Amino acid sequence: MESRILIVGLGLIGGSLAAALRAAGFQNTILACDPDSDEITRGVEMGLIDGGATELASVIEGASLIVLAVPVLAMRSVMAELARCLARAAPDVVITDVGSTKATIRDCAREAFGQVPPNLVLGHPIAGSEKSGVAAANPELYVRHKVILTPEPDTEASALARVRTLWEACGAEVLVMDVERHDHVLARTSHLPHLLAFSLVDTLARQDERMEIFRYAAGGFRDFTRIAGSDPVMWRDIFVANREAVLASLDDFEAGLARLRQAIESSDGDAMLATFDRARHARHYFESLLNKTSYQAEYQMQQQGKLRYRVAPGGAVTGRIRVPGDKSISHRSIMLGALAEGVTEVKGFLEGEDSLATLQAFREMGVAIEGPYQGRVTVHGVGMHGLKAPSGPLYVGNAGTAMRLFAGLLAGQGFDTELTGDASLTKRPMGRVADPLRLMGAEIDTVEGGRPPLRIHGGKALRGITYDMPMASAQVKSCLLFAGLYAEGETRVGEPAPTRDHTERMLQGFGYEVHREGDTCWLSGGGRLTAAPIDVPADISSATFFLVAAAITPGADLVLEHVGINPTRIGVINILQLMGADLTLSNEREVGGEPVADLHIRHAPLTGIDIPVEQVPLAIDEFPALFIAAANAEGTTRLRGAEELRVKESDRLQAMANGLAAIGVEHTLVEDGIDILGGGRFEGHNYGGGRVDSLGDHRIAMSFAIAALRAGDEIIIDDCANVATSFPGFIDLARKVGLQLEEEAVEEDA
Ligand code: S3P
Repeated sequence: MESRILIVGLGLIGGSLAAALRAAGFQNTILACDPDSDEITRGVEMGLIDGGATELASVIEGASLIVLAVPVLAMRSVMAELARCLARAAPDVVITDVGSTKATIRDCAREAFGQVPPNLVLGHPIAGSEKSGVAAANPELYVRHKVILTPEPDTEASALARVRTLWEACGAEVLVMDVERHDHVLARTSHLPHLLAFSLVDTLARQDERMEIFRYAAGGFRDFTRIAGSDPVMWRDIFVANREAVLASLDDFEAGLARLRQAIESSDGDAMLATFDRARHARHYFESLLNKTSYQAEYQMQQQGKLRYRVAPGGAVTGRIRVPGDKSISHRSIMLGALAEGVTEVKGFLEGEDSLATLQAFREMGVAIEGPYQGRVTVHGVGMHGLKAPSGPLYVGNAGTAMRLFAGLLAGQGFDTELTGDASLTKRPMGRVADPLRLMGAEIDTVEGGRPPLRIHGGKALRGITYDMPMASAQVKSCLLFAGLYAEGETRVGEPAPTRDHTERMLQGFGYEVHREGDTCWLSGGGRLTAAPIDVPADISSATFFLVAAAITPGADLVLEHVGINPTRIGVINILQLMGADLTLSNEREVGGEPVADLHIRHAPLTGIDIPVEQVPLAIDEFPALFIAAANAEGTTRLRGAEELRVKESDRLQAMANGLAAIGVEHTLVEDGIDILGGGRFEGHNYGGGRVDSLGDHRIAMSFAIAALRAGDEIIIDDCANVATSFPGFIDLARKVGLQLEEEAVEEDA
């Protein structure tokens, strides 16, 4: 049993080691050293380590086992630093590493210590993921994976035994081989496949039909190329470090490829069959031999059909959490960043499917975008006229915001485009953007009823218009402002009620003048955007599920950090407070032109109210969750003037009414709203359990998940995969605060 383990380099590999040790019940001290103090803080918050520092000398005191988990090329300087302060570690200290190549690391050790110290056991866990950073730490990462140890002839047996014990405690299977053999084997089984994946994706991404290739690429392509998402810096280091062995394996591969090329050229079917057959059998053999590598496990996850949630009744809501970044602001950050001159650095970007669809669409129009990596995205702007024609339709999935904002932006381009989406988006009205865009001179085709796909004919001269929107829609407003950037003269948009103003704020942040007087905003076309950094606050729409969860749950006490409280988005705060919620704001500040605050909420009795009609556009995405608050309030909550809810990702009035009926909440549905009669009990449960169909609508799914906190029985929610469009990680956060939620994959045809 080690008394004090020091992990140097707290990334995915180091963090997962700590996580695995904790999961195995290791109770002694684990410390970490990492140049990034945020990673240390995150590691402590995640309960993986007891503390740490950015300097090795400050944490080495008394360490009994030191694990070097830094990138291969950082090993030289880390070993040198270690040699300087090693005397302060425990007298019987053992050192090991996790580097992917071993000969170069052995050289570093010889350089730093004059020889490979007998208490240094070089090693390499064969596990990984394309994710990086301690946030991605996974206690299961090493389970049933191989760890190769490469001791020298004079390595102490006791040191080798202790390192073996370390990895076996994490569920790994330990193999021993010499350094040269390790590098040779890994060059073939790991380094070469990564090289091929990087090369294939890069090659295809340069071709004109890349859009088609990526869009229609089925599982095989995805499986083969998944590892092309791996950390480029780490892989550069590996290829530098294992140069000779990789070159040798590449020679072999090229010879094999040349043979296949020849077979294809001469239509030699037999030769092809022979090769494919051999490969196929070898593959099956390896599969049963290796059984479940992390790649396979992840691939199986990606293959899943629909997702179902099962939420046990009751549970707690306590703690301090930060929900993911704002969806609306994330979409806009990529759009404006792409059209700007210069490089836009985005922090806190929502890595949900909706905003990733926007990001991908710009890549398809030739914009270089790095990331996302833990919410960081770097957009290399191409300027107002720098987009290139995509080689096929732009697919935006479930994202109404993407489709509507793109419609305006693309109407101003010199090339034609087509916008398509998933089944839900294909049912949603697009006439609301196509009609005014046509008034501006755009040429747009929709299918019957003004539905997607949208065909946008480029090269049309746009002119500014004055347009009074028939509905309060930020998407329509933003769409017209985007088109207005390309139009002659002023584009003026009047709104019947205030809607979210992120577009206006961000345009101003990028140096583009936007004016407002009363209910009208306007801009003049022909200007330029200048890149500016963007710090995306946590999404108040995602925070809402936890606000309602805490509001309805006895004993709840929850802080939501860094939430965007733009005045056009805080309907949910106003409505909950009117219902009697104990909700306070603190630490109010402004980041990148958007106000943010920490929200503190505790359980308090709620009362049904007539929701003020002016709050409706300010809480438009929050009603599904607010209906759950209403189901737990004393008396009736009445909503009117909310007909827009019928054209969201689902008909949310109908979907919620169906779900409320399923769990036994009394209500009356009307065309533009609903009356909900709450259970009103302060303790115990306010309704039963039941089975609810989310209709593939993320917010319906999450709303009924929190409803379970006050249900008398389990709530089962079908069709939940789309939660990932707006709230990746919802399940983990929900469990962290105290919900009892399980997800299960359901076969498509079940
Ligand atoms: C959004 C505007 C709202 C909202 C949607 C995001 C935006 O839609 O419901 O989730 O980012 O502009 P409408 O403009 O249709 O009201």
